[in-house]
Amino acid sequence: MKILSARIVATAAGREGFPPGDLPEVAFLGRSNVGKSSLLNRLVARRGLARTSRTPGKTRLLHFYRVARPGSDLVLVDLPGYGYAKAAKTERERWKGLVEGYLHGRGALRAAVMLQDLRRDPSEDETLLLEWLAERGIPSLLALTKIDKLKPRERAARLRAMASSLPVPADRVVATSAATGAGIDELWRAIDALL
Ligand code: GTP
Ligand code: MG
Repeated sequence: MKILSARIVATAAGREGFPPGDLPEVAFLGRSNVGKSSLLNRLVARRGLARTSRTPGKTRLLHFYRVARPGSDLVLVDLPGYGYAKAAKTERERWKGLVEGYLHGRGALRAAVMLQDLRRDPSEDETLLLEWLAERGIPSLLALTKIDKLKPRERAARLRAMASSLPVPADRVVATSAATGAGIDELWRAIDALL
């Protein structure tokens, strides 16, 4: 995928900070530390664009990245991660307000990419979010992350287990690695198929 340019256009703590929404948007959702910011950087081939960290809970605001490609521009939205152990109840409520404030009635939102670490079992959070998106008619993809951490044989077994435990059709599941770049072209094709 040829990327002409990628730059941040907004960092928002609420609706008032959202950009105009004149381009199709793709939102990246998932547990804290699952690799949302890393995958986004890989997709646009810009190493330091979205901040990544070993410390969960790094992305606490919504970040909007405008990506120019030959023929079709779009905006990738890095949403704050949920579910890190230290998060207090007030923090969880803040997350909910922030993310729902975006997902509810954002006309520009065309697709969501739900991330799930291939090594971990998904929780009710992933299922509920995927169902919530489906109910609102927002098509979603499942990006399995950090596949470089598993040997090929373990990978295949985990992939089968994952596909049957989450409500996503098989043709919307992509195995990825931000470390090696595996699955990146496939993820772009899957995203474009939904736009
Ligand atoms: P929050 O912003 O806290 O929600 O986290 P995030 O989902 O944006 O995760 P982030 O991209 O910051 O990555 C978390 C950690 O996982 C970092 O240490 C990354 O280097 C590492 N990581 C992300 N993707 C991969 C991958 O594909 N392979 C490997 N080996 N490590 C990865
Ligand atoms: Mg992040």
